[in-house]
Amino acid sequence: MSFQVALNFEDGVTRFVECRPGETVAEASYKARINIPLDCRDGACGTCKSRCDAGRYDGGDYIDEALTDDEAADGYCLPCQMTPLSDLVLRIPSSSAAAKTAAVTHHATVAEIVRHSPGTIEFTLDVDDRDALDFLPGQYVNVDVPGAGVTRSYSFSSGPARRQVSFLVRTVPGGAMSGYLTEHARAGDRLTFTGPLGSFYLRELTRPALLLAGGTGLAPLLAMLDTMTGAPPAPPVRLIYGVTTDRDLVHLDTLEHYAQALPSFTFDHCVADAASTARNKGYVTGLMDAGTLHGGDTDVYLCGPPPMVEAVRTHIAALGVTPAGFHYEKFTPAAAVRETVGAA
Ligand code: FES
Repeated sequence: MSFQVALNFEDGVTRFVECRPGETVAEASYKARINIPLDCRDGACGTCKSRCDAGRYDGGDYIDEALTDDEAADGYCLPCQMTPLSDLVLRIPSSSAAAKTAAVTHHATVAEIVRHSPGTIEFTLDVDDRDALDFLPGQYVNVDVPGAGVTRSYSFSSGPARRQVSFLVRTVPGGAMSGYLTEHARAGDRLTFTGPLGSFYLRELTRPALLLAGGTGLAPLLAMLDTMTGAPPAPPVRLIYGVTTDRDLVHLDTLEHYAQALPSFTFDHCVADAASTARNKGYVTGLMDAGTLHGGDTDVYLCGPPPMVEAVRTHIAALGVTPAGFHYEKFTPAAAVRETVGAA
C-alpha cells in the first residue's frame, strides 16, 4: 500500500509524492523529480532534517549528530531514512525553487456561482484533472482572474476529498475578481489557478483546537471541518466566527450541519455592528478567555484581516496564555498574496 507524502516548502508551495512500501521519502521525492535537500543519504549529516506535521513513520537508522532524541521527540525526521506508515505532511527546509519544483497550474470549468450575501460570493469549479490536484485543508491557490491579467488568492472552502472545489470571495467595489464574479461569470467559464500554497493547514488533532474566522476567513476553516467529518473522534474543536454586519454572516447552516455531524465541534458567532440582531455583538476576542484556550493546551487556527490577527495575538498575550500551536493567515479582500504562518 502506498502512502501520500505532502512536501510543504518554505515558500508555501506544496507538492505531493507517492511513497511505496519500504521506500524512503527521499527516494519517492527523487522519482518525482523533486530535489529535497540531501547530502549523505545515510542518516549521518542532518542535511535533510525536516519537520513532520502529521502522520506516522519509521524513522530508520541514523546517528545522533544527524538527529537527536529530543529533535525526534519534537517531530523532526530525516527523509533520507524515514519510511511512512501512513500519509504524511512534512515541512521541507528549502524553497521550492531550490528543490527544482514549483506549484502546479490547473485548468477548470466554473460549475456554480452562489451569492450568499450582498458582499459574499462562492464559486465552485470542476477541475479538468481532479486526480492531479492534492491540497491540505486550509491551503489556498492563486486564481487567474479572467480577462484581468491579474491573480487573486483564495482558500479552498471545500475539503480535499470532494471532487468539486469551492472558494469564498468577499466582493469589493472595483475589485478584479469582484467585477468578474458579479458582472461576467457564468457556469461553463474556463479558469486557471496555481497551487496549492501556504503553511496554514490543519495539523494532526492531538489536543483541543480553536478556530477563529474573520469574514471570508471562514473558508479555510470550512475545509478543515469538512476533513474532520468522518475521521475518528477528535478532541474538542471550537469555532468563533466574527463579521462586521449581519449581512456578512454566511454559512451558519453549514456550521450547524458540522455541529450535528461532529460531536466534538461547537461554534459561536459575533457581529461588530452595534445595530446587529446577533446575540453576541463585538469581536471574536470578546468570546475568548483562558478557558477557551484550555490554559494553553490548544492549537489555534486564525484566518482574517490583519487588524483581527493582531487583535487576537494581543488578546491572547494579555490573557497570559501561550497556545501550544498558533497558526494564522492574514488576508485583505483584494489580496494578490496571503501571509500564512504555521507554528508548532
Ligand atoms: Fe544526510 Fe539525510 S541526507 S542525514
